[in-house]
Amino acid sequence: MEIRGLAKRYATGETTVIALNGVDLTAEPGALIAIMGPSGSGKSTLLHVVGAMDVADEGEIVVGGRAVTALSRSELVEYRRRIGFVFQRFHLLPALTALDNVLAPVLPYKVDFDKDARGRELLASVGLGSREDALPSELSGGEQQRVAIARALVNDPFLLLADEPTGNLDSQTSAEIVELLLEVRRARGMTAFIGTHDALVASRCDRIVRLLDGRIVDEVEVPRGLEPEAVLDRITRVEST
Ligand SMILES: Nc1ncnc2c1ncn2[C@@H]1O[C@H](COP(=O)(O)OP(=O)(O)OP(=O)(O)O)[C@@H](O)[C@H]1O
Ligand SMILES: [Mg+2]
Repeated sequence: MEIRGLAKRYATGETTVIALNGVDLTAEPGALIAIMGPSGSGKSTLLHVVGAMDVADEGEIVVGGRAVTALSRSELVEYRRRIGFVFQRFHLLPALTALDNVLAPVLPYKVDFDKDARGRELLASVGLGSREDALPSELSGGEQQRVAIARALVNDPFLLLADEPTGNLDSQTSAEIVELLLEVRRARGMTAFIGTHDALVASRCDRIVRLLDGRIVDEVEVPRGLEPEAVLDRITRVEST
């Protein structure tokens, strides 16, 4: 995926907020990229635009050699369908069981797989094989996020977009969720962007992109072969300079 010159402005009354201001980014297939930066720097906007939940004012996103802006209506629907989203607040439907939440994206559609079997398999793969009938209110935050991750995988996404997936979780649970995301990426080889404030989360990614005022101000490969603590130490040092 190639992101070129992406710009996004929001008009709010008299003023215009520049949320993205010329973002260029290349994501190799299978790359796991952390998007960091202070509040308001454009992380969520970038994820929304990449996921075609929002439209850029300038620039383009090229996937498999094709610009997303050039896709027809039905191709755009298909593009969105093949992207998995994970949010900070899980966004599960409170009246549905874990299994039905996982299946929610496909419930209204005809698909070429056994929905029920797929849902059960995905729940098992996120460690919730025995909680299929639980309602979200009966699950812990970490478990709800696991359901949300399973739901994001139901259409076999080529791209996973996670916006502060650990923002509502304690540090132990956050670490477990990151490991799950890494495992999912390893097993499926999809590209993934994770917007995060959490240096621990970022330290487990391949690359860290730092935004400031809608621009990329820093892009570093996470050093391989270091202990997680050492990576974290380097990242935090950069963060505080
Ligand atoms: N729908 C909107 N209408 C107006 N302004 C918006 C809208 N969405 C985002 N913005 C503005 O765009 C800028 C970037 O916002 P964005 O949500 O992308 O930041 P962020 O990096 O995700 O922040 P946070 O870490 O707080 O989640 C901010 O100045 C924000 O106020
Ligand atoms: Mg955000």
